[in-house]
Amino acid sequence: MSGIKIIKGNFYDCSHNRKLRVRSGFYCVVKDGVSQGVFREIPAEYAGAEVTDYSDKIIIPGLVDLHTHAPQYSYRGSGMDLELLDWLNTYTFPEEARYSSMEYASQAYGIFAEDLVRSATTRAVIFGTIHREATLLLMDKLETTGLVTYVGKVNMDRHAPEDCMEETEDSLKETKQFIEESGKYENTHPILTPRFIPTCSDELMRGLAGIQSVTGLPVQSHLSENRSEVNWVRKLSPESRFYGDAYDSFGLFGGECRTVMAHCVFSHEKEIRLMAERGVFAAHCPNSNTNLASGIAPVRRFLNHGVRVGLGSDIAAGHSLSLFDEMISAVQVSKLYWRYLDGNCRPLRITEAFYMATRGGGEFFGKVGCFSEGYEFDALVIDDSSIRSARETDAVARLHRMIYANHECRICAKYVKGKDIFTSVH
Ligand code: GUN
Ligand code: FE
Repeated sequence: MSGIKIIKGNFYDCSHNRKLRVRSGFYCVVKDGVSQGVFREIPAEYAGAEVTDYSDKIIIPGLVDLHTHAPQYSYRGSGMDLELLDWLNTYTFPEEARYSSMEYASQAYGIFAEDLVRSATTRAVIFGTIHREATLLLMDKLETTGLVTYVGKVNMDRHAPEDCMEETEDSLKETKQFIEESGKYENTHPILTPRFIPTCSDELMRGLAGIQSVTGLPVQSHLSENRSEVNWVRKLSPESRFYGDAYDSFGLFGGECRTVMAHCVFSHEKEIRLMAERGVFAAHCPNSNTNLASGIAPVRRFLNHGVRVGLGSDIAAGHSLSLFDEMISAVQVSKLYWRYLDGNCRPLRITEAFYMATRGGGEFFGKVGCFSEGYEFDALVIDDSSIRSARETDAVARLHRMIYANHECRICAKYVKGKDIFTSVH
């Protein structure tokens, strides 16, 4: 039966209201990369299709990284001694300047792409640097992996070292060329990437908004991450009511413009309401927020207000590509928030973090993040038999333990749009 694959195993995913669904020993029918549903028995119309039986392994949706920086992968796990603005000036900008060298970019992005494909991530939204050529090289490398990504050439025209900025006009011109040249990829898409308000002049933001309205491209940036940053934005945009309003004043905050904002640690009621109203995605990056001592994002409030939330590794402020580790941290920091900051904000349950890493972020890519009919089939097949324990677990506890003990497990197969990219791409 051409274009049809049947996968058998123990399926775990989330319903739209963030409840866990467990279907053990079921069959998922995949047609042209899209799930036709998960069934107890193979439906008669698909009898005779090839079945891949993963026996007792765990099958979960592929994990979605809503926010990361490819050029910063080279110094991950180091330089965690500073807060955001000093961290950017001391470690980030000097490193990103190195991507003017295609030789360095090729080496560094080769490592990033190889490690990303081996990770649990199937889709990612990624910052490059200001350099068009190096960012296209990153896209070349990602395209060969089979992963689905959005990649942005970064825009900056103020408040950064000379070698990390462009003249406003050049930045816009290079962005247009970047968009044209990135039209050739199947799975690697361009995304507009003003770094954040402090490094983007009003003129640059207006120019990017113009490009956005013509191309309809999505936008990624940073929002309300750090206290000094938020205060700085207040001075830079005195006419804005709050940080998110500054993006909104250019038309770069959701609505017609699909937008993902990283962090939102200091987002208050008004900003959260505007995000919900405009459908802005929040990329929650708990490891980054802890490492840079930024704070704890009020994720429970986002959820209560109906903000769309996914998880981000935010390399290199985040120390690891692992979205399992971000799930764990999301739950942990939410407990500290509840304990120390606001007893009304119930801690996240692990299922809610699992939802964010799958359906929550997946929504940015369309119908992605679960096994329901009509969703693109992205999946991880996980062998958890190496977690040593004398005790039996039930099906739900098994998923929780797999997440917390993910370092003891092995990913046996990784499907993106119905294709096992571990076996079919290389
Ligand atoms: N804000 C602006 N640029 C960055 C960055 O590279 N990382 C983080 N964490 N925040 C930022
Ligand atoms: Fe970031």
